[in-house]
Parts: sequence; structure tokens; C-alpha cells
Amino acid sequence: MRTIRVPELDTAAAWRTAARDLLASGTSPGEVIWQYGEAQPDLFAGGTATRPATQPASVPKSFVELSQTVCWHSDPERFARLYAFLWRLRETPGLMQDRGDAALATLRGLEKAVRRDKHKMKAFVRFREIDAEGSRRRFAAWFEPEHHIVEPMAGFFARRFGDMDWMIATPDRTLIFTDGAVSLAPGQPKPDLPEDATEGLWTTYFRNIFNPARLKIQAMQSEMPKKYWRNLPEAAAIPDMIASAEARAREMQLATPSLAPIRAGRISERLRMTDDAPAATDIEALRREAEGCTRCPLHRNATQVVMGEGPRDAPLMIVGEQPGDQEDLAGRPFVGPAGQLFDEIAGEVGLDRDRVYVTNAVKHFKFAPRGKRRLHQRPDGGEVQACKWWLDAERDLIRPKLILAMGATAAASLTGTGQGILKRRGTFETAADGTEILLTLHPSYLLRVPNAAAKDAATRDFRADLALAVAHLDG
Ligand code: URA
Repeated sequence: MRTIRVPELDTAAAWRTAARDLLASGTSPGEVIWQYGEAQPDLFAGGTATRPATQPASVPKSFVELSQTVCWHSDPERFARLYAFLWRLRETPGLMQDRGDAALATLRGLEKAVRRDKHKMKAFVRFREIDAEGSRRRFAAWFEPEHHIVEPMAGFFARRFGDMDWMIATPDRTLIFTDGAVSLAPGQPKPDLPEDATEGLWTTYFRNIFNPARLKIQAMQSEMPKKYWRNLPEAAAIPDMIASAEARAREMQLATPSLAPIRAGRISERLRMTDDAPAATDIEALRREAEGCTRCPLHRNATQVVMGEGPRDAPLMIVGEQPGDQEDLAGRPFVGPAGQLFDEIAGEVGLDRDRVYVTNAVKHFKFAPRGKRRLHQRPDGGEVQACKWWLDAERDLIRPKLILAMGATAAASLTGTGQGILKRRGTFETAADGTEILLTLHPSYLLRVPNAAAKDAATRDFRADLALAVAHLDG
């Protein structure tokens, strides 16, 4: 029996090294006791390899990613679970794709819990200013994570708040950032933190981004569980906002659509997304995250962000260009004329929209005002690139078997080029992650073609492409 002690610092890397060595020495999961504790000079305390080392096994990248997240979970069995799965993976390389495997499902659950906890930390850490030292301002925050996420979150906070000195205290670890250097200290009890002058601003911001028409109390509490409220200045506004939500939603319905309010600039700036992938682990949470998006200027004039919709396990994802005028008002993709034409032709070939995840390459409506009308404008390359971040996050959550790219903008976002879509339609291309992309025309193109014969031909082509998608999924 071997006892492997995985240190509290650099846990994920240490587990990986230990697992690799155990595998190479042919040590079965039943022969290992995993312990989590202070770093020891000899990671393999309590035993030495008794078997000759074999060739290091090659491990799928998807498992490496999974294990490097699961290692931060607080489940005492996490290391053993990972190693037992890795052991089986050697013999059954397809195991990572087996959705019915119970051990994999458990690991995915642990991964999701860690990602969710990290998201909570990003969203709910509130700094209070403490005494300044030299020219740098100093801040401190208190947070109570459920898992050991402080270390893997260090890079995020260092990048986002690199221009000040700060400390995030938690019962598990204390993260300290001084003069550009990150360090970790043991956890501690909640320190006494001063009130912050910016708390009023947080509350204002929170009231501004709150959409009463979208109030779902249960979803809101699952996204912002009550246990975080006591550390959040803006939470004081919640009961009042819930109470007045219905009346405000009615007022909003009566109001003519107008340009989106300019949001509390300073704080939006502070919340500006980095290149980290969004932390949301379900589509509803992703939508809420996207509501604060300022990655490109389109958020300024659109009524709202329009994320995709459809089942989480949809085998087919359909990507259009951007919401149109009606989608912008309804907050749902493909509900206007192009969407209706799509529904009609999809119905003809037996493509059931309820089984499809429908979304767009760009999530905010881009338009030029002309009197009372808002004329569609094509998003430019920078806007498509900025929004690819959200499209990638949707793809990550849905993981469809096939993506149907409708039009040049979707093709550009998914394949890197939108050129020659008329020639490329009806063909399959492969995205960088291996997902198959079927290219087709955009339904609004069918609505615009002026000449009847060309319109018939384009409609025929579009119908054939949708039928091809159906056949591909059934095949
Ligand atoms: N056109 C699109 O590309 N997407 C929509 O959601 C609506 C029209």
C-alpha cells in the first residue's frame, strides 16, 4: 500500500506528477491511499516503487483539463476518484466521451462545482480600502469559498487588480498581492474591514443592471446564494427590487424601446471581461454574465443581449449573424422574418427547432437609426471577434455534434473566413476543436434576393443544406 500526500499548495500539479509516476510503475488504484496535507519534501512518503517503470501513458487533453480543475474540489475522495478513472482510461481511451459512465459523471459534477465556486469568487469579492502605503492604494476583502479555489484564482485577481495592493482573506487561504507579486498565506478568521466609500456606487450599478422583466427569484438565489449577501453592499437593495419588479416590468413594456441606459461607467470598466473564459456552468448563468458585457461598443445602443436558446444536449447548434430588430426587442434569436422563414423551411425537411440550440455569432443588435426605423448593419471583424468569446462559451456548454453556420458572419466566426460562402455552402468544414461545421446561406439572403429565379434557387439550396444537416445527425 502506498500513501501519497498531495500538498495544499500547487495541488493540481503535484497530483498530476504523482499520478503519472504511479501509472508508470503500474500501481493500481487499490494500492494507493491519497492524503491532502502540508507539502512534504518526499511526495511518495510511505512507499517506494516496487515494479519496473513502464512507458509514460499518453493521457487525453480533456482528462488533463478535468483533473486540473477537480483537484481543487473539497471532496476528500477527489484524488482517488481521479486516479481510478485514469487507470481505466488507459485501457479504454474512449471513456472521456462516454456520457453514461457514472465515474465520469461524478468527476464532471465536481468540475462543475469548482467552476461555479470560481465564478462566485470573481463575482462576489468586494474590496474595502484600507490605509495607503506609499503611492499605492491598499484594499482587503473577505470571501468564503466552498472549495480550494484561492490559489487557482490568484492569476485572475492579479491581472484584474494589478495597479493596487490587496489581500483576499478566506478561511482556507489568504491571497496577498503586494508590489506586483502574489503570495499565499494560511487561511484566517474574518478580519474587521472598514465600510467602503464606493458601496453606494455598487448598489446603483446593481439597480441599473437589474432587469425586472427577467426576475426569477429561484435562479437569482442560485446565482447569488444568500450566504454571499452579508458581504455584498448591493444585496441590501434586493428585497425592494423584488417587491417592485412586477410594476417596473409593466412600465418597461409600455415604454417605447429606446437606447440602452449608459451604465455606471466606472464600475462597468472595472467589470470589463478579461480573456479568461466565462465561468458560467449553465446557459441561464451565461446569459446573466453576458448582460454586463462591454467587450465591444455594440452593447451601448442595443436594447439587450440576445443569447442562444435550446436544449443543453442539442446535437445541432445553428449560428446566425446577429439579432435583428425584433430579436433585440424580444431578447430571443430568430423570431423575426428571417427566423420565420427558417422555421418554415426547417419544418419542410423535418428539422425540429425544439431539438436545436439556435444562436448568433454576435449577441447585440447593430443598427443605424433612420427616423423611427433601425436599419441592420453588418458587424465588423472586431465585433465578431469580441463576441466569439460568448459563442465559444455556448459551444463549450452545449458541445453539439454538428454546427450549421448560416451566412458569412457565422462562417467567419467559426472557421476564420467568411469569404466565398456561395461556393462553400453545402460543404462541411472542421473547427479547431474538431467539431464539424456545415456551411449554408443566411435565411435573410433568401428574403433579399431580388430576382424570382435566383430566389427559388437560393431557397432550394438552403432547404437542401438543412436536409443535409438532418441526414448527418441521423446517420
Ligand atoms: N438574423 C440573424 O442572424 N439572427 C437572428 O437572430 C435574427 C436574424
